Parts: sequence; C-alpha cells; structure tokens
Amino acid sequence: MKYFTTVHDIKSADALIKQALEIKSDPFLWNKLGRNKTLGLIFLNPSLRTRLSTQIAAQNLGMNVIVMNIDKEGWALEFEDGAVMNGNKVEHIKDAAAVLGTYCDIIGLRSFPSLQNKEQDYSEHILLQFMKHCKVPLISLESATLHPLQSLADAMTIYEKKKKQRPKVVLSWAPHIKPLPQAVANSFSEWMNALDVEFVITHPEGYELKEDFTVNATRVYNQEEALHNADFVYVKNWSAYNEYGTIPPVKENWLLDQNKMRVTNNAHIMHCLPVRRNVELSDELLDSSVSLVQQQAENRVYAAQAVLKNILQSNYRTEKLTEVQTQLIEA
Ligand code: CP
Repeated sequence: MKYFTTVHDIKSADALIKQALEIKSDPFLWNKLGRNKTLGLIFLNPSLRTRLSTQIAAQNLGMNVIVMNIDKEGWALEFEDGAVMNGNKVEHIKDAAAVLGTYCDIIGLRSFPSLQNKEQDYSEHILLQFMKHCKVPLISLESATLHPLQSLADAMTIYEKKKKQRPKVVLSWAPHIKPLPQAVANSFSEWMNALDVEFVITHPEGYELKEDFTVNATRVYNQEEALHNADFVYVKNWSAYNEYGTIPPVKENWLLDQNKMRVTNNAHIMHCLPVRRNVELSDELLDSSVSLVQQQAENRVYAAQAVLKNILQSNYRTEKLTEVQTQLIEA
C-alpha cells in the first residue's frame, strides 16, 4: 500500500477492519516494525483525535513522529502551477512537499475543503499535489472530500458491536450552526457501501451528497422512516453539496433524541467528534449507554496502526499504482 486516501486504495475493507481489530488485541506486537522510520503529520487545519491517535499508532509501531501545523507554523503555501509568486505566498507546494518527502518515510496530511469552490475541493487539488511532489507514501488525515481513517475506526466499532451478520446502519444528518465539509459523510458512505450492511442515508431536502459516494445506499428524506429497525445511527452534519457549502433552511427538527430512537432496534449512536452537544446530538443520547463515540475515538489509534503497518510492510517503491492513482497524480 502506498496511499490511503479512500476505501478504493485497499483491496478489502473487511480484511483491513479485521487486521485493525487484531492489532487492538495486542497493540505492541509490531513495536520494532517502524524502527528508524519517520512519520510526518502535516496539518493545514485543527485536530485533536486524528493528530494524537495517529501519533500513538506510529509510536506503537516504533516509528519516530514529527508534527507540523503548517498553516500556522510554516510559510504560506502557493498551490497554483506556474504562479508568479509576488504576493503573500512564500513557498510553492512543489518545493515544500518535496522537502517533506526527503525528511519522512510516510506523510499524513489533513487538508479541509474551502467550501467555496466545489470543483477545486472535489478535485482534491491540495492532497494530490502533496502526493505528486512528496514521492513517499501518504495517508489522508481527512481531505477535502473524505476521512478514511475515521471511517475505518467507525467500521471497526460496528464490527465490535454488531449482533447480526447484516446490521442496518443509518447515516442521519444533524443540525449545526455553520457549514461543515461533507468528508465524514462521503467517507462513511463509501465504507458502508463496501461492507455487508443495510445502509440508509437520511437528510433534509437540499443536503444530497455526491452520488459517487452514496451510490448503493437507500436514501430517504423522512428521518423517522429511516430510523425504523436501525441497529446503528451515525449522526453527522454536513453542508449542501449541490448548492455547494450552503446551509439550506430546514423546517423539521432533525436533532436526535431518545424519543426518536424508540423506532430503532435499540440502536447504538455514533458520531466522529467533535460534537456540538444539544445542537447535533442531545446530552441524553451522548451520555447514555447506547453511545459509541468514545469507542470510535479509541479505535482511531488501531485504524491508523493498521494502515501504517500495511505501508511499512509493503514494497511500495516497486508497487504498481492503481489506474485511478496514476491518472490522479499525473493529471
Ligand atoms: N474525528 C476527528 O477527525 O477528530 P479531529 O478533527 O479532532 O481530528
């Protein structure tokens, strides 16, 4: 494995989830694998869970870790090819990413979308430029459109808690005070589509996700109908994809509470965190025994460890890239 940016970068989601669960049962088994290897974690946006869990994961594998909040601590980056850099941008991504690639064996990158320019965000131009110029394996720590480490941890949590072979999993839109990326919802959809689950997405009109990610899911606008017999309810806000980055008005109350959960199959509640309590999810649900949010956060360590282990064990220098990866990087 050279890249981990989407579920399509791996051969089997099911196999990777099982590997991550095995690592959880014995986290230090591979603590010499990363000896003398360096992981560079590069953040263009804030983080608590991703930063710390990935750092712990690398340490469990014996790696050295360096972290840089490049948006605050680095030079202002230019991403335009051929730019005449006579403005406030000091360093081109071509140079910065190439330097990072000489210092690190693996790079992790967090780069949120602008939510202003759909084409640019959905082309993943920041992630792809890092991939192209750093030349070493790269893990997405949440990109403009996807958050695969979160989804792997979420899928692990479902595997740990599911009581039937094919559980019903509902992704339920939640209110928020400001526009948020679609990345967690896109990514969760991609992963659920790759697994043996009954997957339903519910959201108000105007909040349709890009169909590339949701293609096999059942989509319903009626939240109560969607929740019927659910085993897991994943709660998440996202801004509109079609009217890109906007927050179209919603008349109904989409805040999930215990009363709405009555129609579920005693469902577990999931959220990636951070969560705005009593805006996205009620205290009563978050603090109840059905909440899996802490388990999801804990599983972030083992999700990251499984991905790093795969990269460290792979012959990525000679590995052939997939057709999509080649096209993306050469574009
Ligand atoms: N869920 C998640 O990615 O959290 P952070 O933004 O704190 O990393």
